[in-house]
Amino acid sequence: MAEDLDAWLLANRLGIPDTIAYLRKTYPSPTWREHHNFGELADFWLRVHASLREQGGQLQKITEAFREGTLDATTFQRTFVPRFNHFLQHLEGHHQIEDAAYFPKFRALDPRMQTGFDLLENDHQLIHGALLSALEHARLVVAALPRGADSVRSASDDYAVSTNRLMALLARHLADEEDLVIPAMLEHGERSVG
Ligand SMILES: [Fe+2]
Ligand SMILES: [Fe+2]
Repeated sequence: MAEDLDAWLLANRLGIPDTIAYLRKTYPSPTWREHHNFGELADFWLRVHASLREQGGQLQKITEAFREGTLDATTFQRTFVPRFNHFLQHLEGHHQIEDAAYFPKFRALDPRMQTGFDLLENDHQLIHGALLSALEHARLVVAALPRGADSVRSASDDYAVSTNRLMALLARHLADEEDLVIPAMLEHGERSVG
């Protein structure tokens, strides 16, 4: 990625500029669903993102309840582990499909798409790294459960830091990706990328 894009790397940015999201002003988000080109793929994309936000939010709530002592260790483990694994698989699978199947089609629509999709692809790598870190810290929390309160507190503090980072990166990425892919589908028709 070009050096002048560093400012727009996922961890540094508060959104993508209009020069990169060059169709955003023409297709502001409140009008998406009324547009005649808004179809099944755009709807599916937004629903996948909504479910990732929802699953991530649930995991944050479960972790908070455990750390505040309103959820015991057994219930935490039984509730958290399968949901966390499902979330990671869902997220990884979604990014793999985007990288392999969809992003190349968006790039082919217009040379101006290049920069935005470089950023999104780079986001996926950064999110993957944050996800591995959260996974490792989650494993340490589960391993600490039989070792008593101090070990659990220390492990869950570390997990909270890494999962908060993952969720913040993901929230930024999902919003920015929507600003690129939905206006592009409205402009070019979703059959051009489906
Ligand atoms: Fe993505
Ligand atoms: Fe996505």
